[in-house]
Amino acid sequence: MTNETNDNYQVGGKSFTAVAVNTASKAGEWIQTKSNQANRFTSKGSASDLVTEVDKGAEKLIRNLIQTYFPTHSILGEEGADPGAEGAAKALQAVKDDEYVWIVDPIDGTTNFIHGFPFYSVSIALAYRGEVIVGVIYDPSRDELFVAEKGKGAYVRGKRVTVSGEERLADSLLATGFPTERQAMLPLNMNQLSAIIPGARNVRAGGSAALHLAYVAAGRLTGFWEMNLNAWDIAAGMLLVQEAGGRVTDLSGKPYNLAVRNVAATNGLIHDELITELSKANK
Ligand code: IPD
Ligand code: CA
Ligand code: CA
Repeated sequence: MTNETNDNYQVGGKSFTAVAVNTASKAGEWIQTKSNQANRFTSKGSASDLVTEVDKGAEKLIRNLIQTYFPTHSILGEEGADPGAEGAAKALQAVKDDEYVWIVDPIDGTTNFIHGFPFYSVSIALAYRGEVIVGVIYDPSRDELFVAEKGKGAYVRGKRVTVSGEERLADSLLATGFPTERQAMLPLNMNQLSAIIPGARNVRAGGSAALHLAYVAAGRLTGFWEMNLNAWDIAAGMLLVQEAGGRVTDLSGKPYNLAVRNVAATNGLIHDELITELSKANK
């Protein structure tokens, strides 16, 4: 495994994207076989922040597969980090200067998985020197694979996709999510909803940030915002949205980087309007 070049992303004959795709779909298939174990969960600190043995097993499977092909690469995975914002910051800090970093959420939407609500996903991204170059999200319930490669577009079930064409919030279908950290965040969330819902076509909260981002890329949602997310929730979906022609920033409109926790991702056309409305709510 020595013929590594960054031009065609080939290592030992397997492209980065092929490994991401194979790994995400294998993990997704395995997760589905374990749905009978979804009711065995533990709390990571609150009644809304949950983890199952399936999350941990899926991350192990993903790590093993990635390490088989790319033993020198680093892996930033949710289940390998300590809980909370501090744990996530520490885990990101530990890999931030590494050349290749795989960013893994083995199940994004664990609460949905536990309840049998079929809206959860496997999210895998690869960053090269801090820049995301591959993003793959797999929805095992619909057997739907979303794939993006830097500079090469975004694909759903193998077909190229672009973001939607709505130009105003009034015509937009948006999505958001409610952070598990309630004390500081929930009042702000409520203000945002009060500010956005009256002026938008409607707002959804499906419970998987990664899938929401994939849906923005696929043109099924006009935009998405959420606070207090981690790199593993956002990285793959961010590249999908960008490669589908959309825009991803933090909530003040600054460009995305791996440390961004408060994110807005849209078709680009409604981005400024969304940020303006949200900033009113945040005052
Ligand atoms: C969660 C999901 C959810 C979002 C939460 C995330 P998890 O990830 O993305 O949609 O609202 O903030 O923590 O814990 O299921 O991987
Ligand atoms: Ca997640
Ligand atoms: Ca997760």
